[in-house]
Amino acid sequence: MKNKYISEIFKEYDHLQEKAKSEQGKRQEEIYSKFKRVKEIDEEISKIGFELASLIFKGIDADRLITESRKKITDLKMEKAEILVENGYPVDYLEIKYKCSKCKDTGYVGNEKCSCFKQKLIDSLYKQSNLKDILRYENFDTFDFSLYSREKDSEHDISPQENMQQIYAKCISFYKNFDFSYENLFFFGKSGLGKTFLSNCIAKELLDMGKVVIYQTAAELIETLRRARFDENTPSDIIEELFDCDLLIIDDLGTEQNTSFAQTELFNVINNRLLKKKKMIISTNIPIESFNQCYPDRLTSRIFGLFTVFEFFGDDIRIMKNINRKR
Ligand SMILES: Nc1ncnc2c1ncn2[C@@H]1O[C@H](COP(=O)(O)OP(=O)(O)O)[C@@H](O)[C@H]1O
Ligand SMILES: [Mg+2]
Ligand SMILES: [Zn+2]
Repeated sequence: MKNKYISEIFKEYDHLQEKAKSEQGKRQEEIYSKFKRVKEIDEEISKIGFELASLIFKGIDADRLITESRKKITDLKMEKAEILVENGYPVDYLEIKYKCSKCKDTGYVGNEKCSCFKQKLIDSLYKQSNLKDILRYENFDTFDFSLYSREKDSEHDISPQENMQQIYAKCISFYKNFDFSYENLFFFGKSGLGKTFLSNCIAKELLDMGKVVIYQTAAELIETLRRARFDENTPSDIIEELFDCDLLIIDDLGTEQNTSFAQTELFNVINNRLLKKKKMIISTNIPIESFNQCYPDRLTSRIFGLFTVFEFFGDDIRIMKNINRKR
């Protein structure tokens, strides 16, 4: 099973590399046809480069010649860059643009798996490739504050909109400081208030930063852990990623089966990650008062001690959106 996924991923990398190279080829053709000099420059550069390589290969002690050739190449590159910029093109217009500049779409940096490779494995094994589609319309750019009422809520000092502004600001700093500070987020509140939406906003930013993110509902997570324990075909490195990935989002905590297996395994994942200082975002619809009736103290105390807790309140956005649409 694992091999099938991996060979598909490598096929995708081949495809990405080909695409990057062919797009570069097209840009090159365009420039060559417009500016003959650029073509001459490239030919000169490769000729000098070849001579230089053969000098070095033969071990000829010709320091002066080598320095001279290098200088010539630099001058030619400068001349090329000037032609591009003068004519309104970006300096790097003729370079190959890989989707992942870290691994140049090979999946590896040295002997190490690139984060984009890990993410691809996760996306296929956790069947979370649909996450990318969702993130296209659930992200910080599409975040709409007007869906939250500006009227003060009877049970709170502030309006749902003010509350969201505070949570939003916190979420922005969560991803911006991702590499510099350690924090976990816990979202609670009734359904339809944007908890999943906001987790997705953060996921999008971190994925764009090349971080490895796993999104699972609590029920899916339990199912993954069950497979890991009892299904020999589940690749072990995928389970390792649950413990190691940069961010684990556990959504809809409380909707999973309440068995002792589920509870033990869930606690194990959360506790392990806390010990390793690996970040998490957990959301739940369970009211805070009854949380400790649903989960054992050891979990409750860790969450309320080691997560920054946010309450979501207001009117169900799904209903609000429908009303707006009908207007
Ligand atoms: N800030 C927002 N801007 C625009 N749409 C939102 C926002 N928050 C939530 N939504 C939309 O409202 C609906 C409910 O949000 P969701 O995140 O699923 O709520 P919850 O996870 O709290 O149950 C979804 O359709 C979601 O796309
Ligand atoms: Mg949700
Ligand atoms: Zn990569």
